[in-house]
Amino acid sequence: MATHLRLENVSKSFGVGGAAETRAIDDVTLDVEEGEFLAVVGPSGCGKSTLLQIAAALIAPSGGVVRLDGTAISAPPPSMVYLFQQYAKSLFPWRTVVDNVAFAVEHRKGMTSAAARAHSRSFLEMVGLADSAERYPWQLSGGMQQRVAIARALAAEPRVLLMDEPFSSVDALTRMELHALVQELREKQRFTAVLVTHDVDEAVFLADRVVVLSARPARVVRSIATELPRPRDNIDTREDPRFLALRHELLAMLLKRPHG
Ligand SMILES: Nc1ncnc2c1ncn2[C@@H]1O[C@H](COP(=O)(O)OP(=O)(O)O)[C@@H](O)[C@H]1O
Ligand SMILES: [Mg+2]
Repeated sequence: MATHLRLENVSKSFGVGGAAETRAIDDVTLDVEEGEFLAVVGPSGCGKSTLLQIAAALIAPSGGVVRLDGTAISAPPPSMVYLFQQYAKSLFPWRTVVDNVAFAVEHRKGMTSAAARAHSRSFLEMVGLADSAERYPWQLSGGMQQRVAIARALAAEPRVLLMDEPFSSVDALTRMELHALVQELREKQRFTAVLVTHDVDEAVFLADRVVVLSARPARVVRSIATELPRPRDNIDTREDPRFLALRHELLAMLLKRPHG
């Protein structure tokens, strides 16, 4: 398969030249294949969000380049959608749920308002929120708001979906439901995905490959193909000996315990 998204010798420092210069990323090269689901894990504060924002061209690297289909990018490409960690803040409180989704669709896909609303409703149905379409985001639970954000991201039908710890603020059961949902939508849409997370189980469950970053400044320490059969099941897969072995290996690395 062809490389879809490439980070090439990317580095990033904040506050360069000042007393508080912070080196966040140190020479990271990553190739994400067309249709691949890549998870990036690493300790808190190591530079994961910075790396993802660079991948989306939301911030510029200090060194190196980001390529989409081989072409260097310097602004967020229309084929890319970024799912922020603080999803609640990314929803418009004065728009209904369906209008929050439709707004993104109109802008990205150039549909008429009526077509965008119909398209949005079908995605709200997929995430189980058809009945909440006319409510406002603040009338929904955290898990429901996150499903709105996911519906909005996927209704835009991105070729690349970048996600920064999108499930970290929902309860454990909702999180598993959202994992199943993302997997299902990915089977349908075949987008390329990069998921940044500190949750090893989530990384192994969703990804084709897990990249481990070092403590700051982030460097790539390991890249491990998960090779678990799909579709993955929230109960069976999480008990699969191969799942547990990968989880063990990754946790040992992140917790810096000797392997075994
Ligand atoms: N805009 C910024 N200005 C200065 N320092 C920043 C900025 N953004 C991030 N950092 C620093 O870069 C490092 C990596 O941050 P971040 O990418 O958010 O880590 P992670 O997402 O892995 O927790 C941290 O030390 C953070 O304080
Ligand atoms: Mg972060």
